[in-house]
Formats: sequence, C-alpha cells, structure tokens
Amino acid sequence: MGTGHGYGKVILFNEHFVVYGIPAIASAIDRKTVAEVKRCEGEGFILHDNREATPGYKEDKAEQQRESIERIKKAMGITDCIEIWLHGDLRAASGVGASAASCAAIARAIADEFSLSFSDEEINNFAYEGEKAYHGNPSGIDNTCATFGGLVWFVKGKGMERLSPPQPVEIVMGDTGKVANTKKAVEGVKERREKYRERYDEIFKEAEKLAHEARDVLLRGDWEKVGELMNRNHKLLQEIEVSSPELDHLVEVAMENGAYGAKMTGGGLGGYMVALTPGKELQEKVARAIEKEGFYALRTRIGI
Ligand code: MEV
Repeated sequence: MGTGHGYGKVILFNEHFVVYGIPAIASAIDRKTVAEVKRCEGEGFILHDNREATPGYKEDKAEQQRESIERIKKAMGITDCIEIWLHGDLRAASGVGASAASCAAIARAIADEFSLSFSDEEINNFAYEGEKAYHGNPSGIDNTCATFGGLVWFVKGKGMERLSPPQPVEIVMGDTGKVANTKKAVEGVKERREKYRERYDEIFKEAEKLAHEARDVLLRGDWEKVGELMNRNHKLLQEIEVSSPELDHLVEVAMENGAYGAKMTGGGLGGYMVALTPGKELQEKVARAIEKEGFYALRTRIGI
C-alpha cells in the first residue's frame, strides 16, 4: 500500500489574475488530504472517497475527479488498475484547494505504491495534470501549495518563491457552503476580459501593483496594511464578477467583527472567504460570528 498527502491552500492575493501571469500570494494551510493506493485486478481505478466534505461537493465534482485521476495515471505512465482511498483533515470544499490537495496526495501515493522515485517538482507536475480536469487552464498555484507547502509568491510559468513573514499570523476561512465550478469561473473572466478589454486591463494593472505592495507589507508583518490590501483585492475580484452575495456577506461579517481584512479566496462564485485575524482572541471572535450565521469556519495560521 502506498501513501501520500497534499496540503489545502488559501490564496491571499490575486486568484484569477494569476491565470494571466500576474503575481499572486498564497499559502498552504495545516490541513491535508491523505491518499492510499494499492494495485488491483482489472482496469482503471476504484475510488473510496472518505473525505469529509461540504454537502454536494463530491457529487458535483465526481466527473472532474474521474478525469483527473485518469490524467494523473497517464502522466505517471501507470496502466495497472489501482484502488484509491482518500481521507485526511482537509474538509473537501470549493476555494480551499481540495482538488489540488487530492491530486498531489494521489500522485505521491501512486509513486510510493509503485516504488517510483519522483522529485517534488515531478509530483507537482503530475498534480498539475490532474488539476486540468477541475480548472481547464490552471495557473499551477494550487498544486504548488498542495505539493510544497509554505507561503509563496507565485507567477504562472515561472514558479514559486518562498516568503517568510517575521511571525505566523492567524486567519479564519469561512465556507459559504456553495459548491462552485472553478472552470466556469475562469472561463467567465476570460469572456468578460475579451468583451471589456480596456476596463479589464486597468483592473489587472491595479492587481499587479497591489501584489507588489502586499509582498512588501507581508514581509514586514504589517498586518494592518496587509488587511487593507486584502479588502482592495476583494473589490477588484468583485469588479471582475467572481464574488457572490454569500461571499460578500461573509466578508462583511468578518469585518464587522474586527478582522483586519477579508476577501473571497480561490475560484469564487461560492466556496471560501478568508479573513486576517491576528491573535487567537480575534480569530476566535470572527470564527464564532461566522458560525453564528450558520457557516463553517476554519481556524488556521499562515507563515508558519
Ligand atoms: C483557484 O484556486 C485559483 C484560480 O486563480 C485558478 C488558477 O489559478 O488556476 C481561480
């Protein structure tokens, strides 16, 4: 039996913009998906998806998941039948890198079961292949976080650079409970960008400037400023129409309860919101407020 894991992630700045080569900042979170893989008789694969999940998530993603596993197997040159078990403490939902975490976990577990010694870079490439089934044209940011962990500056086609703020900081992620289709969200941006090219060029320019500012203040641990920039980033994401009323509501709840900043995170149109909440006390306050509204809240830290 081979085993492997992949981390969940949070995008702090510039999801969607990152697909067009604009820098983004993201972090792995301390929750992961674990895969176990065993050779079996027959063809294809047998999957036991035992991950905890937002209701409807697994059903909604079943077809993409099937294509994703086939892509990973093909990229790794595996023709044997494999049986896969998925579990771990990352609750499967939109916006938290659940698909990428499972892709990295499966690729690692296959490598382990077949005694193939692949580097992390190669595992990351296999996970990227798998991600194509979920994203269409992924930037690679999710699988990079899932494979390598840590807080990263990421540029599509150039890869990642690790960022180390002076100390770790608490965040809260709030799940709208709405399962979203990342492929559709990415395609929507592409269509609108073609239609409103001039306006979108301005927004994209602003997003690029913001990434560089965010990098500086993050490296200084200036959380007030980081929060302010997250709010600005959320506005840009609203402008390109990837937020949703549920996400905007969670942003409002977080801000009313003292978060330094809050924004949608990941593909949007549902899925997760992230709030910057330095200190255990503020983190708890914001998480409880989200729970009181009936949403799931994930408490974690970045920059560990
Ligand atoms: C999804 O987590 C992030 C997006 O920017 C897509 C991608 O980068 O592949 C929306």
